[in-house]
Amino acid sequence: MFDLVVKGGVLPDGRQADIGIRGDRIAAVEALPDGVAAGAVIDAAGDLVCPPFVDPHFHMDATLSYGIPRINASGTLLEGIALWGELKRDVTVEAMVARALTYCDWAASMGLLAIRSHVDVCDDRLLGVEALLEVREKVRDYIDLQLVAFPQDGLFRDPGAQANLIRALDRGVDVVGGIPHFERTMEDGARSVRVLCELAAERGLMVDLHCDETDDPLSRHVETLAHEAQRLGLQGRVAGSHLTSMHSMDSYYVSKLLPLMAEAGLAAIPNPLINIVLQGRHDGFPKRRGLTRVKEMQAHGIPVGWGQDCVRDPWYSLGTADMLDVAFMGLHVAQMTSPAEMQRAFDMATAVNAQIMGIAGYGLAVGNTASLVVVDAGDPVEALRLRPPRLAVIAKGRVIARQPRNAATMSLPGRPASVSRRCKPDRAG
Ligand code: FE2
Repeated sequence: MFDLVVKGGVLPDGRQADIGIRGDRIAAVEALPDGVAAGAVIDAAGDLVCPPFVDPHFHMDATLSYGIPRINASGTLLEGIALWGELKRDVTVEAMVARALTYCDWAASMGLLAIRSHVDVCDDRLLGVEALLEVREKVRDYIDLQLVAFPQDGLFRDPGAQANLIRALDRGVDVVGGIPHFERTMEDGARSVRVLCELAAERGLMVDLHCDETDDPLSRHVETLAHEAQRLGLQGRVAGSHLTSMHSMDSYYVSKLLPLMAEAGLAAIPNPLINIVLQGRHDGFPKRRGLTRVKEMQAHGIPVGWGQDCVRDPWYSLGTADMLDVAFMGLHVAQMTSPAEMQRAFDMATAVNAQIMGIAGYGLAVGNTASLVVVDAGDPVEALRLRPPRLAVIAKGRVIARQPRNAATMSLPGRPASVSRRCKPDRAG
């Protein structure tokens, strides 16, 4: 007897299997007999059934604040940081909680059930920390929210940042963050990487730094991050977010850097929607894309995920909480267009991101958490092409969202009455 059975789905690896759920756990992934005893059945015949989407890089304290108090006129990272500084002077915990919960509703409806959010600690009141700790509690039954103590204005550049970051960790923030390229000098940036990695090693925490988010080909903080991860035995616990300078670096230098990153067990989190929008703003033509070297890192065995980073905030005016949008942009900019590469682009938004965040019990296997998504597509590549409705979202054993199929009703003489853009038909064809 199962509480819920998801029947006839196609898993990301192409297998067809039913999924039986008991409580908040997956109890079967196999062909179950027709009429098997179940509290409820979801018919997913021919539909993609995948583990939840995961976002390892987001800013939930800033989300949905677009236009407050004004928009980012230059479109640059630096004006975005200045604008966030204006906004946070007047922000309240209540407003941040309300916006974050709205975003979590969007995320849940899209099957995005694990999010790592940076939270700005450059505020002696730690309002963002207070707000997002509250949100983490409120959504815990359906979204795993991991928080990063993020000194937005620089660990050394902002006089209170170091003490505030430690206070945030003491209050239960999960991960150590930083922004070495925003410190005043390259030396201060390198020192911030050392101090932050030592803090993480002392406390047994993970590290996720905004690292080399610049077009400067000589930015070198990812090298320091890899070196410190190795020196302190933090392999597998450290991520570098953005790494956009690697786009512009000399290729000989990168050929030396990539093996170091691999040996140090570093993970990389590019944020393609944001990188393509913010980087290259000082260029004439040709204009750099600013996305890090995704395929080259993967060829060295470095785990590379995709992050969303921003939705309607001082840095980015669009965004939908759909990790398929993020992967879609990423595969275009990184030119990951072979069938295997497109499949990998999908895995990056799911399993690889989950690995980077260290989520226990993730994936469609017996004994794991019963969180999964039924997608109106026949396979992962079709999901990327269509970015279609999430027909059902199941979080920890509970159905939390349903959405109808994407099909247009047509009225053209001699043509079908409805049109679906799927190439792999569902059971209705
Ligand atoms: Fe970010």
